[in-house]
Amino acid sequence: MAENNGDTILELKDITKIFPGVKALDGVHFNLRKGEIHALMGENGAGKSTFIKVITGVHAAEEGKMFLEGKEVRFRGPKDAQEAGIAAVYQHPTSYPTLSVTENIFMGHEKLSGRMIQWKQMNADAQELLDRLDADFKPTDEVGALSVAQQQMVEIAKALSMDAKIIILDEPTASLTANESEKLYGIVEKLRDEGKSIIFISHRFEDMYRLASRVTVFRDSRYIGTYDVNGISNEDLIKAMVGREIKDMYPKEKVEIGDVVLKAENLSRTGFFKNVSLEVRAGEIVGLTGLVGAGRTEVMETVCGITQADTGRILLNGKEFNPVNPKTAMDAGIVLLPEDRQKEGLILTWGLGRNVTLPIQEDVAKNGMNNEAKEREISKKYLEDVDTKAVTIFQPANSLSGGNQQKVVVAKALAEDGVKGMKVIIMDEPTKGIDVGAKAEIYSIMVDLAKKGFAIVMISSEMPEIIGMCDRIYVMCSGRMTGCLERNEATQERILELAMAESKEVSA
Ligand SMILES: Nc1ncnc2c1ncn2[C@@H]1O[C@H](COP(=O)(O)OP(=O)(O)OP(=O)(O)O)[C@@H](O)[C@H]1O
Ligand SMILES: [Mg+2]
Repeated sequence: MAENNGDTILELKDITKIFPGVKALDGVHFNLRKGEIHALMGENGAGKSTFIKVITGVHAAEEGKMFLEGKEVRFRGPKDAQEAGIAAVYQHPTSYPTLSVTENIFMGHEKLSGRMIQWKQMNADAQELLDRLDADFKPTDEVGALSVAQQQMVEIAKALSMDAKIIILDEPTASLTANESEKLYGIVEKLRDEGKSIIFISHRFEDMYRLASRVTVFRDSRYIGTYDVNGISNEDLIKAMVGREIKDMYPKEKVEIGDVVLKAENLSRTGFFKNVSLEVRAGEIVGLTGLVGAGRTEVMETVCGITQADTGRILLNGKEFNPVNPKTAMDAGIVLLPEDRQKEGLILTWGLGRNVTLPIQEDVAKNGMNNEAKEREISKKYLEDVDTKAVTIFQPANSLSGGNQQKVVVAKALAEDGVKGMKVIIMDEPTKGIDVGAKAEIYSIMVDLAKKGFAIVMISSEMPEIIGMCDRIYVMCSGRMTGCLERNEATQERILELAMAESKEVSA
């Protein structure tokens, strides 16, 4: 256990929070020092986000005490926490996409002169904050038009605008590529050097090693311990988090590789990608990686009929295939696991079961099965397969933790495969926001699917999983395919080189 020898700024003791049917926090502790970056880690559903919302007054805890600079405090709502100098960037930020950056930053604490809103002043202040963050967009830009990384930056700017002493970041790197994460690390370190205290939640070990001096682990709503990052081995930390050892994170097996199932030839879509060719064989797990805006998702969206290419062609089992809309692609056996699960993957107010069986409603009905019972059976099976932490299949998706919502989308894709007999499965960042134990499970499901002869494409920015799981790795840069590496020649350096191939050319 780590010694608490610094100046404590925030301390929580014996916090318990109960939701209907779930004890989300069961007597947990936490202490944060002045000027430290403290990582909070644990499995999906362990209670991390709930804990943050207790700190920021969004949720009222049933039990426990909170001390700010040694004095006991009780927040009646988020406003109280804000005034006390605590700001959070939540896991699912609630920004206003149709409003400007400035409006989002100052929402709720607008600058007024009398009853007039001081737009000019606010825009200038926003610009100053953006400069501090080295942001590449303008205060007047519409937030909805920004990338996820940029939107994250707006949220951080908002925290800074309130002049917070304590800044909490709930999985800020989940949607970021390696480069963007690197930039965020720089910002967080700078804030720490300015004397801010930071709580950083992440499932990426890389984040913790890079930033944090201490780490607190929760498991199953309970406090497990607080450790010095340099004083605990990776194995022990994983064990603290999942309660067991994980021997083989990447269970890649040699699988018999069959014929080419999916092939793209010289696909181009103006403004997005140019002359992209790739192929995937039955039994193969193929990686597709690159930096932000490289066009990976856009290429796969074309294969799935979400958008259309201007030129080039797609072949499925050797025959030309023209996916004019997502349904054509699905009917032909191509399933996509989208990256933005909140927007595209789930109907948040529906039950989990219904969400999982949504794409197979017709099939269930067609076979004259008893719909309800069959639906229940199917959804239960696949939700259990990915180890979803939920009370029943009837609870709404928005009552699950972030990572467990992800698992529901994975279960949905698997159910579709299982029932419809799909051939190609495209996973866009399949382990984004998913804890280390469930990651290992998703990898082993991928291997099972490969063994069954699926052709699998994994779009991912996480080097370790790309290198650990893929037979071949395609790398894109600025809309072009810059290379393809075989499993035995793939290293982090080689991949990065290809991912930045074009920018190098330009600077040379
Ligand atoms: N609004 C809510 N209503 C009911 N249950 C909830 C609600 N919010 C969270 N829970 C439950 O509380 C538990 C803890 O969830 P929480 O979101 O805090 O987990 P987490 O550690 O942040 O997980 P993740 O890593 O997946 O984000 C889970 O069982 C979740 O289903
Ligand atoms: Mg969470």
